Amino acid sequence: MRACLFCAAFDAVFAAVSPGQQPPRLLHVPPGPRSRALASRLANVECPAFDARRTSRAALSGHEHAPIVYVSGLGSNVLDADDNQYVDLVAGFGALVLGHCPDVLQKALCDQASQLWLALGDVYSTEVKLSLCEQLAARFPEPGARVMLGSSGADAITAALKTAVLATGSPRVIAFTGSYHGLSYGPLAACGLNDAFRIPFAAQLSDHVRFLPYPDTERALDEVLAALRHEPFGAILIEPILGRGGCVVPPPETLCALRQACDEHKALLIVDEIWTGLGRCGAWFDSVDQGVLPDVVCIGKALGGGFPISACMGRGRVMEAWGVQGGATLHTATHFGAPLGCAVALAVLRAIDEQGLVARARQLGLQWTLALRERLDGSRCGVREVRGRGLMVGIELHGGASRTLAVMRALLTRGYLVLTGGVAGDVLTLTPALDIEESLLLGFAEVLEQVLVACPC
Ligand SMILES: Cc1ncc(COP(=O)(O)O)c(C=O)c1O
Repeated sequence: MRACLFCAAFDAVFAAVSPGQQPPRLLHVPPGPRSRALASRLANVECPAFDARRTSRAALSGHEHAPIVYVSGLGSNVLDADDNQYVDLVAGFGALVLGHCPDVLQKALCDQASQLWLALGDVYSTEVKLSLCEQLAARFPEPGARVMLGSSGADAITAALKTAVLATGSPRVIAFTGSYHGLSYGPLAACGLNDAFRIPFAAQLSDHVRFLPYPDTERALDEVLAALRHEPFGAILIEPILGRGGCVVPPPETLCALRQACDEHKALLIVDEIWTGLGRCGAWFDSVDQGVLPDVVCIGKALGGGFPISACMGRGRVMEAWGVQGGATLHTATHFGAPLGCAVALAVLRAIDEQGLVARARQLGLQWTLALRERLDGSRCGVREVRGRGLMVGIELHGGASRTLAVMRALLTRGYLVLTGGVAGDVLTLTPALDIEESLLLGFAEVLEQVLVACPC
């Protein structure tokens, strides 16, 4: 019989907890032999960029970055190809707000799958799409909102950028360094996370975007306000909290100041809530919670709970611009608003409401952040800052990207899945399912402390 390598003590403590909320249980040092074999076959056939990144990460951190391969997931647990069980603190890049394979979404998918997979989008539609659009419009902070559905976050951002041109007549957009909005061409032009994403394709991107520092300081905010005074812009595109950019939280007055400036200069305020929205940060929309009425809000990730669906929602008077384009549909795609995605999204919204997950994320996130701060305080852990809102938490480390990657790797070998982020790659980003058990979060804090102490700067 194979023995668990690290977790006997945790097993005893958590034996009684529910399925999908189990502590790590490792049978092989990850990646085990089957993950290695599968990953190496995959590297022979998939886009070489992924394997190249692993090689460069290994060189940077001095640790190998061979991946595990997922086989199944339940709640906040993932099983890999070697039967190792992990606690998932990434949750599908923040999309799995109800965890892996929740019953309610399986049921919604199965019911819809036995009825209708695809209608005819903008030609002949479905009641399930109508219900979703009505529910989303009703959650928008102003009556009369209009909804455009998409399949990915990048789709929603593309729709928002097009909305800005139609509504204001200006293609110019202010976007921010450190921001990430997806990598298809519309959002790519506004991707400030890393120039390397844009440089190879620069000749296919127009230069309508002006990048400014993310307004998390008074000085950076002033720079945005000055830019708006000096040049005409159609829109500001902003994440209320930088996600991939390292979980950077701007001061509370920032979005309000941008709202006011957009009103003065007739630009749209487009808020990218693809990561922050739908409860992740303890509110339906983080921007609205900051007291702001955006012109356009983009949501994705959580909306499908792991199924690909997104939405761009705008104030009625802004979205009117789409209706006066001479009868052309202008923005559609085969799978936009398809019944399967709409059925899942409706079930996600219902589950978040019924399980009180918005308030839970706010409260649990607060407690977890405080627990992490307390535990990781002091120079021996080499932590610069623990920050975030709700269950979107970033831990900025001393020691740069190489240490952060080494910590991520060490956590993997202790059974915890985390990601790194930030412009400098020095932030651990944690976006667990909104219904994760508190004991798993506290267990992680303890293991993280041990790992950080063993991984000095
Ligand atoms: C804030 C934000 N916007 C947009 C996107 C793009 O979403 P997608 O990957 O679904 O296109 C992401 C993805 O991580 C994101 O974090």
